[in-house]
Amino acid sequence: MAILVSGGAGYIGSHTCVELLNAGYDIVVADNYYNSCPTALERVKEITGKDFRFYQADMTRRGDVEKIFQDCPDIDAVIQFAAYKAVGESCKKPIEYYSNNLNCTLNILDVMREFDCHNFVFSSSATVYGDPECVPITEDSPVGRTTNPYGTTKAFTERILNDCCEADPKLNVALLRYFNPIGAHESGLIGEDPNGIPNNLVPYIAKVAVGKLEKVHVFGNDYPTPDGTGVRDYIHVVDLAKGHVCAIRKLTQNPGLVIYNLGTGHGYSVLDVIHAFEKACGKELPYVIDPRRPGDIAECWADPGKARTELGWQAQYGIEDMCAHSWNWQSKNPDGYAK
Ligand code: UD1
Repeated sequence: MAILVSGGAGYIGSHTCVELLNAGYDIVVADNYYNSCPTALERVKEITGKDFRFYQADMTRRGDVEKIFQDCPDIDAVIQFAAYKAVGESCKKPIEYYSNNLNCTLNILDVMREFDCHNFVFSSSATVYGDPECVPITEDSPVGRTTNPYGTTKAFTERILNDCCEADPKLNVALLRYFNPIGAHESGLIGEDPNGIPNNLVPYIAKVAVGKLEKVHVFGNDYPTPDGTGVRDYIHVVDLAKGHVCAIRKLTQNPGLVIYNLGTGHGYSVLDVIHAFEKACGKELPYVIDPRRPGDIAECWADPGKARTELGWQAQYGIEDMCAHSWNWQSKNPDGYAK
């Protein structure tokens, strides 16, 4: 019995590998290192003291996926992280995003069918809800009114997985809709390592804190929120990773298609996060108020009740730990993995 973790060297993938290994699972990791590097996996081994099989594989190539299943007949579940993930870039390169993100999952599903593997966990996002009608967001909220091609690849893949479950009663799928993952493993050995100037808030703040960027740009303070800045449900990446272990356990009960929000249920504003990070790094962080970023929404946070009831999963870490662990990672690795 082993779990194939595709995209396992990435930010969420590497943290999930640690939690799976800690929970006693055998894993097979596949990654093409498009947006990740071997060091992350070396560090996963260092943290856990465990080894695992690895394939440098491009999941858009059917032959690459087939080879893994041929070599590893013990794979009985897949967690699929492999995807492009930059919102802004997806608006400029929609063909690349649709082609890569949809084909990775389609190929894996096709090969799983060939090898009689029936359990699939998909890395989805709260972005499938678009601009929500109300918060907190439950899993029943309308899906599909996405605001960028990246988000649409997630919504389309969810739809594909729905259809596959309709067609094959043996297939079990967990759609995990992540809110805003931040933080790092508390060892400071693995964490988020974006290419170039970060697009997301916390990696950007971390670069300001470590002196690589001058100041934080707050995108708008005129939203209808308590302090006028955008409110999000930030979730510690280790809590998120543990959610995958719970989802894998759930799939052993043959539930068919299941959908869970993975969030904390608490919303924090941009200014809340800046101040929490200041506390974590022990210095004041300069920031300016800029205009709103196109496509951003005012507020978004989860109702995580379904995951609590059905998976027995609940986020443990608060915003202070998230920022402290981000800072620990960033200050110990100012150039990330220096790939
Ligand atoms: C985006 C994506 C989401 C994806 C997530 C993590 C959409 C609509 N959102 O979420 O799908 O999972 O990234 O990759 O597709 N902000 C600043 N200054 C910055 C950066 C951000 O003020 O330099 C603000 C934003 O306006 C927002 C908040 O910080 O209010 C969080 O932004 P960000 O970290 O980019 O995540 P989202 O846009 O929520």
